[in-house]
Amino acid sequence: MKGKICIVTGANSGVGKETAKQLAELDAHVIMVVRNEKKGRLALEEIKEETGKDSLDLMICDFASQKSIRDFVKKFREKHNRLDILVNNHGSMPSKKILTEDGIESAFAINHLGYFLLTSLLLGCN
Ligand SMILES: NC(=O)c1ccc[n+]([C@@H]2O[C@H](COP(=O)([O-])OP(=O)(O)OC[C@H]3O[C@@H](n4cnc5c(N)ncnc54)[C@H](OP(=O)(O)O)[C@@H]3O)[C@@H](O)[C@H]2O)c1
Repeated sequence: MKGKICIVTGANSGVGKETAKQLAELDAHVIMVVRNEKKGRLALEEIKEETGKDSLDLMICDFASQKSIRDFVKKFREKHNRLDILVNNHGSMPSKKILTEDGIESAFAINHLGYFLLTSLLLGCN
C-alpha cells in the first residue's frame, strides 16, 4: 500500500475516519474528503498524532451538491494524475424531506447519486 493514492469520503468520523487511519497505517497516501473543514482538520490531526504518519491531505466536498462534486474532482485532478483506491463511505439519514440545490431529495442525492457522479468523474467518463 506504500504510496497508493486513496480517497476516503466522509473521513472525519465513524467508519470513514477509521478507514483513513488504517490506510495511513499502511503508508498509503490518504485524501480525506469532508464537507466541514474544521471537523476534517481535527480528524486529520488526530490520525496523524495516533499513527505518526504524515501522508494525509484534506479536501472539501459536499455530496449534496453536484457542483461541489465536480469542483472537487477538478481540484483532485490538478493535484494527482492517478487514483488507486476510492472508498465511497459518506452517508447521511435526513429526518425530513429536503431538496438539494439540484432539486433532488437529499438522501437520494447524497447516498446514491453522489457516489455515481464522483466515481464516473474520477473514471473520466464525464
Ligand atoms: N454504522 C453503521 O452501522 C452503518 C450501517 C450501514 C451502513 N452504514 C454506512 O456506512 C457509512 C459510514 O457510516 P458511519 O456510521 O461511519 O456514519 P457517520 O459517522 O455519520 O459518518 C458519515 C460521514 O459522512 C459525511 N457526510 C454526510 N453527508 C455528507 C455530505 N453531504 N457531503 C460530504 N460528507 C457527508 C459525514 O460528515 P459530517 O460529519 O460533516 O456530517 C460523516 O463524515 C455511511 O454511508 C452509512 O450509511 C453504516
